[in-house]
Amino acid sequence: TQHFIVIGNPIAHSKSPEIHTRFAEQTGIDISYQRQYCPVDAASFTAVIEAFFHGGGIGANVTVPFKQVAYDCCLARGGLSEHAKVAGAVNTLLLNKTLRENGTPIAEAIYGDNTDGQGLVNHIMSLNWPLAGARVALIGAGGAARGVVLPLIEAGIASLTIANRTLSKATDLVHELSAASPTIDKQQIDTCRTAELNGQFDIIINATSIGLSGDTLPLSEALNCHYAYDMMYGRPLPFLQRFSARGAQVSDGYGMLIGQAALSFERWTGQHIDVAKVTQTLLNH
Ligand code: ATR
Repeated sequence: TQHFIVIGNPIAHSKSPEIHTRFAEQTGIDISYQRQYCPVDAASFTAVIEAFFHGGGIGANVTVPFKQVAYDCCLARGGLSEHAKVAGAVNTLLLNKTLRENGTPIAEAIYGDNTDGQGLVNHIMSLNWPLAGARVALIGAGGAARGVVLPLIEAGIASLTIANRTLSKATDLVHELSAASPTIDKQQIDTCRTAELNGQFDIIINATSIGLSGDTLPLSEALNCHYAYDMMYGRPLPFLQRFSARGAQVSDGYGMLIGQAALSFERWTGQHIDVAKVTQTLLNH
């Protein structure tokens, strides 16, 4: 049996064990995937993951509020993928085995990746929404928004506008991202206040945490799109209702959740996941 965990706080409602169990069924791999509670401090987090990997664990997912803590931890003792570096956050942990010439491990380090943004891109592509050449607006400038910018640019979007309630957080984000990655050119990213975002976009993505608060975003009457995506899921989303009423195709973020999980599972096991098939199975339960 290969052992996996998801670490978070709170963690009781995480859907990851159910999703990864389906992946295991599909690939015929014998796994145990558990929810792991952790007190909210960096020392506890480090102790939990060290104990897990020393005990033979293969991989861990990291969720709220530990993604930045996991980033710091990997920076200090292992390594970070390009996507984790640029996102400033880690959602997937694995052991990085550095081999001697004769194949004997000389060091085992905890390595961090981030599959959230690619999970979003893969889901959008599976919906057949045209990403290449798209004019995209991203609303929000927190951790969720930061994680998707590089994958969106790598997918070949034509332009990106980042809108946020607090404009300075959007402009700071663009400076930080362009400093962190040569792929991100700050000249190609516009910023504005959320209420001032207007015109016609191909795709508008909500990466704010507003769905949790019950508030609605102050969106201009002059804002329209062909496709609207909300990274939240599991409740009615006023953001999607607004664009759906104006004729746009819409999607919540459930497919992104499965998409990021599938990429983690693929990193850990080397097995490919048929995401559409697993999504269908999960929706039927
Ligand atoms: P996450 O990691 O989920 O991105 P975060 O880093 O706290 O969480 O970022 C939350 C995002 O949602 C921010 O862009 C925030 O806007 P501000 O930067 O202006 O705070 C946005 N957000 C949260 N509540 C909001 C609200 N009521 N109206 C508009 N934007 C909101």
